Amino acid sequence: MNQVTPWEVKGDIDYDKLIKEFGIKELKELPKEFNDNVLFRRKKIFAHRDMQRILEAIRDKKPFAMMTGLMPTGKFHIGHAILAQQMIFYQKLGAKVYIAVADVEAYHARGQSLEESKKIAIEEYITNYIAMGLDVKKCELYFQSNRSNDSKKSNAFYRLQNLLAGHVTFNEFKAVYGEITPGKMLSGLMQAADMLHAQLPEFEGTMPVIVPVGVDQDPHLRLARDMTKRIKAYKFVQLSSTYHVFVPGLNGGKMSASDPNSYIALTDDAKTIKKKVNKYAFSGGKETVEEHREKGGDPDIDVSYQWLTFFEEDDDKLKEIYDKYKAGDLLSGELKAILIEKLTETIGGYQSKRTEAQKTAEKLFKI
Ligand code: TRP
Repeated sequence: MNQVTPWEVKGDIDYDKLIKEFGIKELKELPKEFNDNVLFRRKKIFAHRDMQRILEAIRDKKPFAMMTGLMPTGKFHIGHAILAQQMIFYQKLGAKVYIAVADVEAYHARGQSLEESKKIAIEEYITNYIAMGLDVKKCELYFQSNRSNDSKKSNAFYRLQNLLAGHVTFNEFKAVYGEITPGKMLSGLMQAADMLHAQLPEFEGTMPVIVPVGVDQDPHLRLARDMTKRIKAYKFVQLSSTYHVFVPGLNGGKMSASDPNSYIALTDDAKTIKKKVNKYAFSGGKETVEEHREKGGDPDIDVSYQWLTFFEEDDDKLKEIYDKYKAGDLLSGELKAILIEKLTETIGGYQSKRTEAQKTAEKLFKI
């Protein structure tokens, strides 16, 4: 069975079906600054709600905010890097950047202590965001359990969350989330407050907010949008959101934090990258070299090729790899070598900045 909810993603994911089921829209015609980014150009970010409002703000040079969040569990891997790239993209476009560490959600959904969440968030997530280029001094990065030391801000945030609870029904929670507990209900309300609070007078004031997320998060957005329409105590601009695909796991299945052979972590060294790709990357190649040369490989199911569509930015180079592999001129081992080189270069670049980045992250949260 396949299932896509904020708490669990199971089975094969049919993105076209999700577009219909969730009522999200395909992302079409974007301005140049978006298409310059691989994730938009290659439709890794494939759907949206109300994106127009953000494009207008950018066109008219009006202020807008980007808000997203992370659940700090396990290792930070290349699947997580997709969201980090978007944070950095919007920061460079001039958005006010808000990032929530979902430690309260991890407590309810994963049974993880706040202390553990803090450690993982700083060592894995925030350190890598900084190494990848996020300027944390120019963004509002906070933990759900501790919004701000400024009581005016903090009160405003938790007040909003409390009032939102009056504008959603138990049945709506059940319909949207499937399985539901008081803790998960609270996580949904907290995420709605995360997404909306930038618009409070104590923060930025009313403005469009773009929420880039994995498509599994759309249920949270649907609920938050309904609450936004109903709540009279506040005047919010309706939320905008975009949805990105999941990077496939090395073995062709799901990339999962509980299976280290399904991902490459940003802390994996060159030797580990090489070993994992050579040993575990699902191949679309043929059984023997002769057969491969004769019939060619299948790049569309080959994970090394699929990963290159996220990391090789040169369209011509990528097309050449695709054509050569399909024609049988490029062997599986050679394709893997191209991926290994690309990953080692990209991740190695981040790693050279990690020590400094971790210091910055620790200072930010006074560790
Ligand atoms: N639920 C998100 C996740 O599991 C994390 C999150 C918390 C979030 N608050 C958010 C995402 C606000 C987007 C916007 O990864």
